[in-house]
Amino acid sequence: MKLVEFFIIVQLFLVLCCKSNSKNILGLFPLKLKSHNLMFDSIMKELARRGHNVTVVTGFPKSVPIPNFTDIDVSDCDRTPVNLFDMDKAYRSHDPFFQLYIFMELAKNDEAILRCPTLSKLFHSKDSYDLVITEIFNSDVMLGFVKQFGAPYISFCASPIFPWAADRMGNPDNPAYITYQHSSVILDLKGSTFYQRLFNTVIYIFAKIKYYLVNLESERMKRKFFNFTSPSLDEISRNTSLILSFSHFSTNERQPLVPNVIQVAGLQIVKTSPLPKDIEKFINESEHGVIYFNMGSLLKSETMPEAKRNAFLNVFSKVPQRVLWKWGNDTLPGKTDNIFISKWFPQRDILAHPNIKLFISHGGALGVNEAVYEGVPILGIPIFADQTLNLKTIQSYGAAEVLEYSDINEKTVLSKIELFLKSNEYSKNMKKLSEIYRDRPISAMDTAIYWIEYVIRYKGAPHLRSAAFENVNKIYMRKIKTEKDRFQEEK
Ligand SMILES: *[C@@H]1O[C@H](CO)[C@@H](O)[C@H](O)[C@H]1NC(C)=O
Ligand SMILES: *[C@@H]1O[C@H](CO)[C@@H](O)[C@H](O)[C@H]1NC(C)=O
Ligand SMILES: *[C@@H]1O[C@H](CO)[C@@H](O)[C@H](O)[C@H]1NC(C)=O
Ligand SMILES: *[C@@H]1O[C@H](CO)[C@@H](O)[C@H](O)[C@H]1NC(C)=O
Ligand SMILES: *[C@@H]1O[C@H](CO)[C@@H](O)[C@H](O)[C@H]1NC(C)=O
Ligand SMILES: *[C@@H]1O[C@H](CO)[C@@H](O)[C@H](O)[C@H]1NC(C)=O
Repeated sequence: MKLVEFFIIVQLFLVLCCKSNSKNILGLFPLKLKSHNLMFDSIMKELARRGHNVTVVTGFPKSVPIPNFTDIDVSDCDRTPVNLFDMDKAYRSHDPFFQLYIFMELAKNDEAILRCPTLSKLFHSKDSYDLVITEIFNSDVMLGFVKQFGAPYISFCASPIFPWAADRMGNPDNPAYITYQHSSVILDLKGSTFYQRLFNTVIYIFAKIKYYLVNLESERMKRKFFNFTSPSLDEISRNTSLILSFSHFSTNERQPLVPNVIQVAGLQIVKTSPLPKDIEKFINESEHGVIYFNMGSLLKSETMPEAKRNAFLNVFSKVPQRVLWKWGNDTLPGKTDNIFISKWFPQRDILAHPNIKLFISHGGALGVNEAVYEGVPILGIPIFADQTLNLKTIQSYGAAEVLEYSDINEKTVLSKIELFLKSNEYSKNMKKLSEIYRDRPISAMDTAIYWIEYVIRYKGAPHLRSAAFENVNKIYMRKIKTEKDRFQEEK
């Protein structure tokens, strides 16, 4: 065989093999929450990198296009009506009952998104998709597209699964030992009080009712925009093939999971990149290590009231450590020389530097996972959502401390920070947790991609469904019966 022929055959083989493996995948992630988007984005980009044709409805379009990846930009249509950015205002929603209001308000945004001109192409699209991926969070209205395209679908949950996700998956959800993650009353992992369990049960039921109420509104929008009544969003949701949940048994509460709920926390963690020179020099030259202070992408750190800000400034002026502080303004009044401010930090790479001694964090899932991965202990100041639960779980390993936002003053901040600076225990415990967290048969990203492709391979993989639903054997038996009847008729 001539070399040319050989190459033609190889080429042909590649075309045939890889074409058949490339699937059309639609991601529906219109909500403009940056931290959630970081999770979806890393998965969707990886799917494109592995040769799939990816289309994503997003509030965060790419500035530089990437191959096999199409953005449907809905950022201009976002009308998110709630203020989750101002520290004091956001802190109000640490009350789980207040969150009903937030969810309701967020769901109102769906109407603006559905009206978005960029979406009209998708509404009238004759494209076909092999898989749809949505977020399971505050509303199911995007499931209208699932019906439209008749494709199996996977939901991504940016936290451990919500009570309403447990319902649709037939997953056990006993509130005696599973905390509602947006609650500030946390079930103590080592045995909780009657009051805690009672409160958690009430809030758990309340959360399900809350979702039901929000979904009545979503159902109305679905009928208006997708122009069909049956099936309802609720019925469609019960067809979820798989949930990818940003959780892990080491960093979240342990809970029983059905086979089609897969834990993928940490999938955003990639290899480190070199730090910007000025930041690297600042960290390198710190004699006593560095405190890294970042309250996340959503909260505006500069809105912290002056008294609280000064509490931190005074403490930082007294400790020998250097401080990296994510601060949204160009200037920080009262800043001392040991403080480096910036509006953005390459968090993953900073946490990987051996001189980082302490991470002061709001306890968002991404930051907590990155700190655990690198073994950096956390002083957590939870503001809302799952942050309290994330932090208390790490605290139960002796690797974190929690400071209530309302308790911030110079005395409390100093005493908490000194705990970490005077004792090596937090660091040791976090290193041990890090080892447990990293010890997995395959990486979080490979796990996610494997299961996504699995669902495509088995056309929705109904055999993963919990026995709480119609047993899959019954579905197959019914098919066999229909075949038999047809066979009889033909005879
Ligand atoms: C990729 O997806 C887009 C829709 O976003 C579609 O127009 C295009 O035909 C797809 N390409 C292939 C090769 O299927
Ligand atoms: C993916 O991108 C490459 C390079 O742009 C292109 O050759 C290939 O046809 C694309 N595949 C799909 C399925 O669109
Ligand atoms: C909605 O669907 C009905 C029945 O299928 C059809 O008669 C009607 O024209 C549709 N309306 C719009 C706005 O598409
Ligand atoms: C659920 O999925 C099955 C199999 O793909 C399909 O036949 C059925 O119509 C779907 N039900 C709903 C309510 O979407
Ligand atoms: C920081 O320290 C590392 C390890 O000693 C070194 O490789 C790197 O060049 C230093 N960077 C700067 C900016 O000084
Ligand atoms: C931050 O900047 C804004 C706008 O320039 C200003 O109104 C605000 O007072 C500043 N806050 C602090 C704490 O410096």
